[in-house]
Amino acid sequence: MQYTITDIRTIATNDSGSLSFFEAERDIPFEIKRVYYITNVPENADRGAHAHKALKQLLFCPYGEIMITLSDGVSSEKILLNNPSRGILIMEPLWRDMHWNIANSVLCVAASDYYNPDDYIRDYGAFTEYLKKRANEEI
Ligand code: TYD
Repeated sequence: MQYTITDIRTIATNDSGSLSFFEAERDIPFEIKRVYYITNVPENADRGAHAHKALKQLLFCPYGEIMITLSDGVSSEKILLNNPSRGILIMEPLWRDMHWNIANSVLCVAASDYYNPDDYIRDYGAFTEYLKKRANEEI
């Protein structure tokens, strides 16, 4: 599966919280053109259900607990984001489903490009077709 769990460097400051950080092109292998975050999500809500064709992303959850399910069209894997030091780096097209285990958990994304609706695939069948086409073109 084409993703990597990354450690986001975190500095614990005595009794007054922690500070986490990453730097574009040093800690993550792309220039960040966009940051977005999802808030005010109720418990047990589902989001996602799409893939991106070209977008590279680092997903992280600085607050709460979100279950991310990634699929490459053959198998799927679940990754729990419940720690501000954990990121999921996605460099290839993967289908993602996201489940909010805890209300108001925050999902943050650092992305390699500006918002482009044409980069989305929102139908799972179309996603698997896209992967087949892509694999044939790469041969
Ligand atoms: P979407 O990516 O579908 O969110 P999720 O996967 O969490 O369900 O985006 C939800 C809406 O927000 C959709 O109408 C597109 C819009 N949007 C932007 O306008 N700009 C952005 O950078 C993003 C990520 C979404």
